[in-house]
Amino acid sequence: MKHVPFQDLKRLHASIKGELDAAVADVIDNTAFVGGSAVQTFEESFGEAHETGSGAGCGSGTDALSLTLRALGVGAGDEVIVPAMTFIATAEAVVHVGATPVIADVDPHTLLLTPETVDAVKTSATRAVMPVHLYGHIIPAAHLEAWRNEGLIVIEDAAQAHLGTTDGMPVGTIGHAACFSFYPGKNLGGFGDGGMVIAQNPALIDEVRRIRDHGRTSKYVHDIVGYCSRLDGLQAAVLDVKLRHLPAWTANRVALAETYRSLLGAQLVPWEDGAVHHLLVARVQNRDDLQTKLKEVGVSSGIHYPVPLSKQPWLADATPPCPGAEVAADEILSLPMDPLMPIEDVHYVVEQVTAMAAA
Ligand SMILES: Cc1ncc(COP(=O)(O)O)c(C=O)c1O
Repeated sequence: MKHVPFQDLKRLHASIKGELDAAVADVIDNTAFVGGSAVQTFEESFGEAHETGSGAGCGSGTDALSLTLRALGVGAGDEVIVPAMTFIATAEAVVHVGATPVIADVDPHTLLLTPETVDAVKTSATRAVMPVHLYGHIIPAAHLEAWRNEGLIVIEDAAQAHLGTTDGMPVGTIGHAACFSFYPGKNLGGFGDGGMVIAQNPALIDEVRRIRDHGRTSKYVHDIVGYCSRLDGLQAAVLDVKLRHLPAWTANRVALAETYRSLLGAQLVPWEDGAVHHLLVARVQNRDDLQTKLKEVGVSSGIHYPVPLSKQPWLADATPPCPGAEVAADEILSLPMDPLMPIEDVHYVVEQVTAMAAA
């Protein structure tokens, strides 16, 4: 039976094995395991790829969000608006700095935050908004600019959106900062956890660097209580190799997504130019049943996310219904998407989905 994996990291890594092995060997030879030249090089190249200065690497995407909130002075008494359709980490990061996450619904079609959904939950305590470029679909520049112009701190959750653009501008160039995850399955994934903050303002990056590294001002002087959340040299070396391939991999994702769109059209969660297609998400009826049947014909799929933030046990009591996210949560199905996926596999997946929907 044909098997179409949801994604295939083994195939991806095999395609660049020589480069990865050499980069890892180099870090071992230099014993630069925390900080050091591999981290510095990667921070610079990742920033450059997004048209900002050098970024600040850290331990995870979740930490990238909370370090940024902290560096921008967001804390107790502040409310931070996050979308109902995202991974839990977006809200967790807010709690980690002592602030209160306020859940806003998403547009029922794009599943992204909009000015209207944000306005609906804004109060005098609202300090920041964390728009999520969900699935690698980028929030329009005009929305990000509008929130900034209203005086809100805008922290783009770009965990799923490496190299994404809106109106030709890379993520992280409109908000105060953008935060990335290098979790292995992301568009740019390491060999473990990792994260990065980029920003136009170098002082913000310096502050994130200080906080991520025990709040130190010199080797054994610490003027604030910080965290231990640094990017490992081995991760940085691997990520730097993979970053060199990311533009080509992203172009493949775009081409695959366009093929899916030409075949499935309005059944897909829509996107604008500049999307980087971390996930390829369809809206279907009888989703759970369809997912099981797809598995039987060798097609792996996922659900991102089956439980919106408005229904999460620790958030539900404080959150009014979010119909946009809640209706979608029962209908969304993430279909296979991988930069080295053969185009025939897209056709196979679509044939199966279409045949099952018609049955
Ligand atoms: C939208 C979003 N935000 C934040 C995160 C957190 O990233 P990490 O798992 O690296 O902490 C993720 C990762 O799954 C994510 O998808």
